[in-house]
Amino acid sequence: MTARGEFSSRFGFLMAASGSAIGLGNVWGFPTNAASNGGAAFVLVYLLLAFGLAHPALMAELIIGRHARSNAVRALQGLATGPGTRRLGTVVGLAGIVTVSLILSFYAIIGGWMLAWALNAPASLLGLTSVSSWLRADSVTRNALFDVFFMGLTIVIVLAGVRQGIEKWGRRLMPSLLGILLMLIVYVLTLEGAREGLAAYLVPDFSKALEPGLIVAALGQAFFSLSLGVGTMLIYGSYLSPRENLSTVGWMLAGLDTSFAFLAGLLVLPAMYVALANGVEIYDASGALAAGPGLIVSVLPALFDTMGLAGQFVAFAFFVLMSIAALTSSISMLEVPVAYVVESFGMTRRRATALIGGLVSLVSLTIVFNFGLLFDLVVTLATEYSQPLLSLFFVIFVAWIWHRNGVLEELQKGHAGVENTLFWRIWPVYMRFICPLAILAVYVQLIFL
Ligand code: PHE
Repeated sequence: MTARGEFSSRFGFLMAASGSAIGLGNVWGFPTNAASNGGAAFVLVYLLLAFGLAHPALMAELIIGRHARSNAVRALQGLATGPGTRRLGTVVGLAGIVTVSLILSFYAIIGGWMLAWALNAPASLLGLTSVSSWLRADSVTRNALFDVFFMGLTIVIVLAGVRQGIEKWGRRLMPSLLGILLMLIVYVLTLEGAREGLAAYLVPDFSKALEPGLIVAALGQAFFSLSLGVGTMLIYGSYLSPRENLSTVGWMLAGLDTSFAFLAGLLVLPAMYVALANGVEIYDASGALAAGPGLIVSVLPALFDTMGLAGQFVAFAFFVLMSIAALTSSISMLEVPVAYVVESFGMTRRRATALIGGLVSLVSLTIVFNFGLLFDLVVTLATEYSQPLLSLFFVIFVAWIWHRNGVLEELQKGHAGVENTLFWRIWPVYMRFICPLAILAVYVQLIFL
């Protein structure tokens, strides 16, 4: 068996793990969800759920991962107290692997669009009109080629391993991501219409906050954004040094992810209203604000087009930003099944990455070729139904199945005296009752709504 990887430092871990968390969900999902669900009202509910429910689920995965120092299936099996809980561990771990592979297979399609749009900017600057119009048109050939291209990049990084691949690219890409985002925010806020966008984002419309769909949307968004329920944070936690203070890194991670989502809102919503001021349609047929694919690949490019030459540079920066955000997340997705196959079947990392990367690419291409039928279905199943439910089980494993002293010992490793803190006084009870019941309550709404 090959030696397990480990992140070289806290910074390395934070860059890699926030690279996983910060992705299309932040730049794309969060702002549009906020805009269509009452602006700041959504943001408030989101903050509550992200720190109240998603953060504990994140901690559950990090703690289990670092304790077991292995993939989710083995880790959960290791916590089992009998054959029943062992079987439950196997099922939850494997379901996470299937779910994350499905997420990767739709994510790679969007990642591919981002790459195509990023290349479109230099192509049109160079006057390559036919290349540019091919890159812009939503064709099955383009989507299939760029899907495979995006998967190829993901595979190459994961092949290089934890320190040389995931951590190295996280360290490089995450600071650039923040740099590009800040630049774009400053620029867009100077344009006409940006103020209305800020208002739509930051002025709460509390009548919408009480609509039943809002909490479900906010919870789904929070779990997706923190990469939960599918063993990603568990496997990254398993590469974290025992000297690290888990509760500190957990707070930092949730804080980074949420701040980035909030910042992305300062870019995307003003940009949409600038587009409106420039005569671009930003509402769809039903009168709702354009969201999902419609937003990023139609409204924003139309905006960039109205901005002349500068628009092409802004477009390039924006789609590079999206591509980077997508890539640092997709590598964390592929790492989950790869680590499982390497550790549980003794396959080399090279073979496992190639094999699983290839398989996911095939599933992804199947979605490209049957887009209307499969895309929304896969997104909904994986992110709305599977992720919160699986997270609930991770919380149950930590709070009910694992012996309380085991949890404490793991926390004490990087935090001597944690048993005397307020955190440890509240946390076990919170994890046992409040957190699982609240997740369940939202989940029940999702099913019966
Ligand atoms: N958190 C990522 C995003 O916001 C998506 C993701 C989900 C990554 C599940 C890994 C696992 O885009």
